[in-house]
Amino acid sequence: MNSYSAFAYVYDQLMEDVDYENWVDYIERIFEKYNIKPQNIAELACGTGNITNILARRGYNLIGVDLSEDMLFVAQEKARDMGVEVIYLNHDMRELALPSELDSILCICDGINYIIDEKDLLKVFQNVYNDLKTKGLFVFDISSYYKLSNILGNNTYAENFQEVSYIWENYFDEDRSVCDFDLTIFSKEGDVYKKYEESHSQKAYKENEIVEKLSTVGFRKIEKFEAFTFEKTKNESERIYFVCEK
Ligand SMILES: C[S@@+](CC[C@H](N)C(=O)[O-])C[C@H]1O[C@@H](n2cnc3c(N)ncnc32)[C@H](O)[C@@H]1O
Repeated sequence: MNSYSAFAYVYDQLMEDVDYENWVDYIERIFEKYNIKPQNIAELACGTGNITNILARRGYNLIGVDLSEDMLFVAQEKARDMGVEVIYLNHDMRELALPSELDSILCICDGINYIIDEKDLLKVFQNVYNDLKTKGLFVFDISSYYKLSNILGNNTYAENFQEVSYIWENYFDEDRSVCDFDLTIFSKEGDVYKKYEESHSQKAYKENEIVEKLSTVGFRKIEKFEAFTFEKTKNESERIYFVCEK
């Protein structure tokens, strides 16, 4: 079963409470704190371009990379509506090789959790390192081990809107440290609701596992923060930001 195919067309409706302008403000605060004025930025796992298109509107040159053609289709439509230009590439970040060296590479809202195999994660970090300029910044976030195992794991969520409804059943596997999500979506098409099913899996990484891999590939400065702040992470942090300088 594919991830982010049918889901791509309802993703933005389900994320409508997320304030992406604020999210991009935080990313710009990170650039300021690390004293960089990036021009060329790539966002990996950019999805429907919620972050990508806003950054492009704020004047940066953006490349958006995602595995899902459907998510990119939505991203491109939105870029056209907003009148912004973004290069969207349908690519797996595990096999990434970008055309030029970048000032910053981002991976926002769980992209890294989708890399289940630890060897693949090392590959992603190595690719990012290779595609960054010296002093370039790699900024990404993860859903924490705590969130995937204690909050999302073994829980069921559901929402019932006029145009779309979903049931989201989650199972956390302690042995694999993986949270499997089974999504059932009912989407209104004309006079009927069509049912779609998808499965997603996210790996629950411990912070030190990530830091170790980042230093293995050569990042010289690695810092982590409670999301949307510059404070230390806590045991119960749900989203963690990593900022890594080449
Ligand atoms: C939760 S969405 C985040 C989308 C976007 N960054 C946002 O903030 O709304 C995760 C995205 O990761 C993408 N993804 C998962 N595995 C990937 C991979 N190996 N390479 C590239 N994209 C991937 C999915 O297709 C999906 O669009």
